[in-house]
Amino acid sequence: MGQNKTSDKVILEIDNLAVSYGHVNALKDVSLTVNEGEIVVLIGANGAGKTSIMETVLGVNQVDSGTIKFQGKDITNKPADKIVRSGMFLVPEGRGVFSSMSVTDNLLLGAHHNLKGSKEKMDYVFSSFPILGERKDQVAGTLSGGERQMLAIARALMSSPKMILVDEPSIGLAPKIVNDIFEILVQLNSEGYSILLSEQNVYKALKCAHRGYVMETGKILLSGTSEELLNNSEIRKAYLGA
Ligand SMILES: Nc1ncnc2c1ncn2[C@@H]1O[C@H](COP(=O)(O)OP(=O)(O)OP(=O)(O)O)[C@@H](O)[C@H]1O
Ligand SMILES: [Mg+2]
Repeated sequence: MGQNKTSDKVILEIDNLAVSYGHVNALKDVSLTVNEGEIVVLIGANGAGKTSIMETVLGVNQVDSGTIKFQGKDITNKPADKIVRSGMFLVPEGRGVFSSMSVTDNLLLGAHHNLKGSKEKMDYVFSSFPILGERKDQVAGTLSGGERQMLAIARALMSSPKMILVDEPSIGLAPKIVNDIFEILVQLNSEGYSILLSEQNVYKALKCAHRGYVMETGKILLSGTSEELLNNSEIRKAYLGA
């Protein structure tokens, strides 16, 4: 997997980022890049800082120091709605779909910064995710876990992003469904979306990503192509049980 042709053009550039929550230094000197057309995965145990990176990129957390650039523009500490309008969307940990709202209304939430063309965008996501089209009037709480994850991804697409950040999409899903979700991400990537993914399902994530970064306690420990990381003896010991 990960066959999509990538470019050398950087779409997301994080330099020397530091973020804290009160006394907790959640991110320390984090630097990473995602090129246009890439799937890049953040690997790390609980509390490593994966969600903190994603939420900070989206403008949810205040940056202590460092910079975040998206498509060459500095977005450090910019408001989340502005960042979303510039072409980035977060598929949050735990999916964040609203159980009592219908599939359609959840999707419209993704488009709320720009309702223009929502009918076309809705048609596009229903053609990509036929199961959601079949269930469009159902409340999201009646969907299976895998369908809810699809809805969360589809909602992101409703904002017409260039890049999506997908935080631990496989959590709580059966292995077969996890494969489906990763296939969807690879398909979206082949349609041109750049993707920053976070995962504890290291083997499968590296199989679909182009490159990865390994995090531990708020720092980047190691980075490389997926192949390099899959062959790295420490990664194999720590994350692949080999
Ligand atoms: N709102 C918060 N207030 C205080 N500390 C926080 C907050 N959110 C995260 N942290 C702390 O920041 C560090 C990084 O957490 P983060 O959620 O980014 O890790 P993660 O890699 O996403 O973990 P997980 O795999 O469990 O989702 C942890 O030490 C965590 O306890
Ligand atoms: Mg997390």
